[in-house]
Amino acid sequence: MTLKQADYKATLSFSNGSPSVDLPVFQGTIGPDVVDIRKLYAQTGLFTYDPGFLSTAATQSAITYIDGDKGELLYRGYPIEQLAVNADFIETAYLLLYGELPTPAQKAEFDERVTKHTMVHEQMQFFLRGFRRDAHPMAVLTGLVGGLSAFYHDNTDINNLEHRDISAIRLIAKLPTLVAMAYKYSIGQPFIYPRNDLSYSGNFLRMMFANPAEEYVVNPVIERALDRIFILHADHEQNASTSTVRLAGSSGTNPFAAIAAGVACLWGPAHGGANEAALNMLYQLQEAGGVEKIGDFIKQVKDKISGIKLMGFGHRVYKNYDPRAKLMQETTNEVLTALGLEKDPLFALAKKLEQIALEDDYFVQRKLYPNVDFYSGIVQRAIGIPVSLFTAIFALARTVGWIAQLNELIGDPEYKIGRPRQLFTGATRRDVKPIDQR
Ligand code: ACO
Repeated sequence: MTLKQADYKATLSFSNGSPSVDLPVFQGTIGPDVVDIRKLYAQTGLFTYDPGFLSTAATQSAITYIDGDKGELLYRGYPIEQLAVNADFIETAYLLLYGELPTPAQKAEFDERVTKHTMVHEQMQFFLRGFRRDAHPMAVLTGLVGGLSAFYHDNTDINNLEHRDISAIRLIAKLPTLVAMAYKYSIGQPFIYPRNDLSYSGNFLRMMFANPAEEYVVNPVIERALDRIFILHADHEQNASTSTVRLAGSSGTNPFAAIAAGVACLWGPAHGGANEAALNMLYQLQEAGGVEKIGDFIKQVKDKISGIKLMGFGHRVYKNYDPRAKLMQETTNEVLTALGLEKDPLFALAKKLEQIALEDDYFVQRKLYPNVDFYSGIVQRAIGIPVSLFTAIFALARTVGWIAQLNELIGDPEYKIGRPRQLFTGATRRDVKPIDQR
C-alpha cells in the first residue's frame, strides 16, 4: 500500500553546526505516525540507534493492531474479544491470511483445503525417530518444520503466489499433526493419523490423546477452549518471532525455513516459552507453601539481584491488561468447571498472585499486567497437554500469523532484504602478530 504522508515534517537539527535535515512523516490508519529515516544515512552519514526496536517501525502492516495503553488487540480491525466469541480458528486464519472474514462458502472451501493437507509424508516419522524420546518438543518442532521444505521443494519459490498459498495451507494443516506426532513419540505411543471429519482443534485433540485400542470422543468444551487458545495466539503484530520470520523471509528463503526460524525464536522464555515458565513458577510456589508464600515471592521478584521475574506478567507493548489474558482466564474457568476441577489449587493461586501483584506499587508503577501466558498454562494442563508442549501449541497457532506476515512482506513494494546496521564499539584496525609473538 502506498504510504500516506502527513501534512507536517520532522526536522532533525545538530548542535555541531551540521545542517539540519527535514524528514518526511507517514501516517497509518491508527497508531503513532512514523518519521521516515530511510534517507538519513545518505543525507547525514548517521545511523539511528534503537536496540530492541523500542521506537522503530520495521515495516508497514495491515494485519494486526495493538493499542498497548488501552489493552486493545485487533485482527484486521476486528477486536479479539469479538473474534473469540463469534468466529472459530479457521475463520480467524482466513481473516489473517486474506484480509476479510470468510462467507460460509469461503469458509467451507478453506476448511476443506486445510483438512486435505493434514497428513504428513510417511517419511516424516523416520526423520522424527532420529530424535531422542526425551528431546524438548520445541527442538523437535524446529527440526520438523524446517524439514518440511525437503518434502515440498518444488513449491518453495517465495516469489510465486501459488507456491506461497499452497505452502501456507500445508503449514497450517500440518503443524497440528507434527506437534501431536512429537508428543506421541515422546511418550512412546503410536502416531494417530488425522481425521477429516473433525474440526481443526477436535482433530488435534484426537491426534494427541487417542490410541488405536479404543474410540476417542472429542469433548466439545475442550474443543472450543483449544480453538479459542489458537485464536488468541494467532497473531500479535511485529513481535520477536514474527520479526524473525520476516527477516528470514526477506532473504527469499522458502516459507518452511522462515517459519522454522520463527519456531526457534518463539522457544525463548521471554516470548513463547513464558507459558511453560509461568506454570513452573506456580508449581514451585505451590510446593513452597502456596498462597501463604506469595508475599515472600513478590519480594524476591522485586529484588533485581534475585533475577526472578513474575512470569506471565509484563509486556513490551501492553501497558494495560493484555485482552487475551482476560479471555484466557474466562476459558480456564470454563474448562476447569467442565472437568469438575473448579477448586484447582493452581488456578486459585494464580488468581491470588495476580490480585496481589496488581495492587503492588512495583507492578503499578511499571504498568505490569498479566499477559496471555499467565493463565494459558493452567488451562492447557487441565486439558492434559504436558508442560513441555505448551510452546509448541503456541507455535501451531502462531504459524497462521507468521505466514500472513510473511506473505504481506513478500507482496510489499517496499520489500527489501532486512539488514540492520550497528554502532561499532570494538577494536579499531590492528595488525595480526604471528602466534609466537603474542
Ligand atoms: N516481573 C518483574 N519485573 C518485571 C517483569 C516481570 N515479569 N517484567 C518487567 N519487569 C520490570 C523490569 O525489571 C523493568 O524494571 P526496571 O525499570 O526497574 O528496570 C521494568 O519492569 C520494565 O521491563 P522491561 O524488561 O524493560 O520491559 P520489556 O518490554 O523489555 O520486557 C517482557 C517485556 C520481556 C515481556 C518482560 O515483561 C518479561 O520478561 N516478562 C516475563 C516473561 C513473560 O511473561 N513473557 C511473555 C510475553 S507475552 C508473549 O510472548 C506471548
